[in-house]
Amino acid sequence: MKLFLVIFIVTAIFGPCFSFDVSGNDFPLTLDYYKSTCPTVFDVIKKEMECIVKEDPRNAAIIIRLHFHDCFVQGCDASVLLDDTESLQGEKTASPNINSLRGYKIVDRIKNIIESECPGVVSCADLLTISARDATILVGGPYWDVPVGRKDSKTASYALATSSLPTPEEGLISIISKFYAQGLSVEDTVALIDYYKSTCPTVFDVIKQEMERIVNEDPRNAAIVIRLHFHDCFAQGCDGSVLLDDTRSLQGEKKAAPNIHSVRGYKIVDRIKKKIESECPGVVSCADLLTIAARDATVLVGGPYWDVPVGRKDSKTASYELATSNLPTPEEGLTSIISKFYSQGLSVADMVALSGAHTIGMAQCRNFRSRIYGDFKVTSATDPVSETYLASLREICPASSGRADGNETAIDNVTPNLFDNSIYHTLLRGEGLLSSDQEMYTSMFGIQTRRIVKKYAEDPVAFFEQFSESMVKMGNILNSDSFVDGEVRRNCRFVNK
Ligand code: HEM
Repeated sequence: MKLFLVIFIVTAIFGPCFSFDVSGNDFPLTLDYYKSTCPTVFDVIKKEMECIVKEDPRNAAIIIRLHFHDCFVQGCDASVLLDDTESLQGEKTASPNINSLRGYKIVDRIKNIIESECPGVVSCADLLTISARDATILVGGPYWDVPVGRKDSKTASYALATSSLPTPEEGLISIISKFYAQGLSVEDTVALIDYYKSTCPTVFDVIKQEMERIVNEDPRNAAIVIRLHFHDCFAQGCDGSVLLDDTRSLQGEKKAAPNIHSVRGYKIVDRIKKKIESECPGVVSCADLLTIAARDATVLVGGPYWDVPVGRKDSKTASYELATSNLPTPEEGLTSIISKFYSQGLSVADMVALSGAHTIGMAQCRNFRSRIYGDFKVTSATDPVSETYLASLREICPASSGRADGNETAIDNVTPNLFDNSIYHTLLRGEGLLSSDQEMYTSMFGIQTRRIVKKYAEDPVAFFEQFSESMVKMGNILNSDSFVDGEVRRNCRFVNK
């Protein structure tokens, strides 16, 4: 069965999620709501859930899912538990529930015991919320306090059950928006769902292992993969469009100016894709592969970890024009670069943090010539050490263009293979190799960027935190067309036939 297994593993979100509009639930939830009326409620539920999960561990998943399907419709009010009657259409026969939602008898069983201890006191909504927490613990998950005091609804909504719950075929953007509508963030969404859980449970391990080999072979590969992901996301969203080869019927992005001489890593993607296809054929999109690989690349060279939301689809198109116009160039002015990030939904802070990726990797002479024969001397204020550095750069990269255009040097010449905050120190010294980087500190329009550069130079943790957050944001730039008619490419270079 193609099962989009929604697993709840964290937090008492359905306690704080009390901003839900639940009729009858106008009181704040508290931990001791049943202190005088049913002091044993937590123990009773715990004991019964212990038996229930012992009988079949699957019951834990069943209860957690039942609670989820309750909360997403009218709030956590046990509306999902109501049977159809002549005067009430329940939620049990709505499409997200009808053939897969279970656990109603488990609830009846617990309710019976509670009613015999404290009749008419504990709501079914509280019972289910507590049971879901206990279920989580019983199969090895975390504990959290469950605030209680929910009331049961007198209504149910077949219509909301149909429209509010996510489906396994649904795209990431739509799922995120459904969680968002319930007051849950992208982080909550990622923590709560696992897109490849049933279809390719090893995907994260496979990519990690392969990236370990790839970065071990050459640490530069980490930089190459991160940049490839960035260039993918800025043209049509993160949809694997940058990976498509030119064909007779498709003009790809590989030959667009920001890519042609410098974007690499296509063979790395092919290599990882081959591994994944042999484990779970036709399941994992190239766009997800690249997004996960970029995170792993970062970690492998000393950078921060973050959870990667997945569920992207691969595009059937590419855009040479967007690759040309959306990607920033090293000679571009600060305000123009800021506006390019802004039009992708990324802020100035995102832009400064993401540019911190230049703490690893190399640049070619053609991309820093104008800088080293331009204002480098001014920004580095003729420091003798800087002068030596400048002289070495000029040796690699002569003033006039020609055979040396492709000569490379590290963008961060202090710790070129380490993902740290050293690039920001380079900018404070005025020694940024790329003009676009130096501008963040030096430009007259850079009051805000200058402040952020200083902050990240002083506080590597703040840089890592923002970088992680911004990479998630960048990775979530979505191609809405691909969500409608995208695909999982079998070969990342070509649209499926
Ligand atoms: C702010 C605007 C940006 C500009 C103008 C820019 C431009 C450049 C240029 C010109 C290079 C050197 C390419 C070469 O000569 O081969 C480069 C390298 C690189 N860029 Fe950026 N970049 C920007 C933002 C980003 C972002 C947002 C990321 C990722 C989050 C990124 C990641 C990298 C990496 C890792 C490298 C090294 C690649 C390698 O070693 O092959 N850049 N960038």
